[in-house]
Amino acid sequence: MNSDHLRQKPFPLEEEPVNYKPRPLTDICPILKDPAALTAVTDLFEEHIRKNHPQVELIVGLDARGFLFGPLLAQRLGVGFVLIRKKGKLPGTTVSVAYDLEYGKAEAEIQEDAVAPGQKILLIDDLLATGGTLYAACELMKKQQADILGCLVVIELKELNGIDKLKSHPVFSLVQY
Ligand code: PRP
Repeated sequence: MNSDHLRQKPFPLEEEPVNYKPRPLTDICPILKDPAALTAVTDLFEEHIRKNHPQVELIVGLDARGFLFGPLLAQRLGVGFVLIRKKGKLPGTTVSVAYDLEYGKAEAEIQEDAVAPGQKILLIDDLLATGGTLYAACELMKKQQADILGCLVVIELKELNGIDKLKSHPVFSLVQY
């Protein structure tokens, strides 16, 4: 199992509709269904972090599919995992930011005490498309005075230039289309 296996296996290349989600290129279900592929994804993220961000203290996952990869990775690294959720889902006192999606507006929230000021964090999600979601997550982390080391995604849709919105933070993606 290596990165070539991951790149060849899960995503059928077909003609895509204009709307980018949901569609086969962004389907992470085949990865989750295949233990070897899921292990490969976690291995690749872990390898990247140990080399580039060994000081990481916390993995922060985005609702909802960041939750599928983030805890596995955090456990590997021996660090904690916290959740950024869509509005109204988290108990206790929360901090939020509003953001635009391709199909409307949304609000991202985190528990007020989830991240300590100065804590070194990495954000994780399944997909970077327009970049609106990760940008909002970065804004939320800035509100919490976190030290953002970078962003991790399984898939980056390069045609949407989401990376331009995240200029000040490095983005590591496993697969690019
Ligand atoms: C999808 C995906 C990312 C986001 C990427 O989530 O899981 O979080 O869109 O898009 P962007 O880069 O254009 O912001 P979605 O908002 O559909 O929510 P879900 O994970 O709850 O389905």
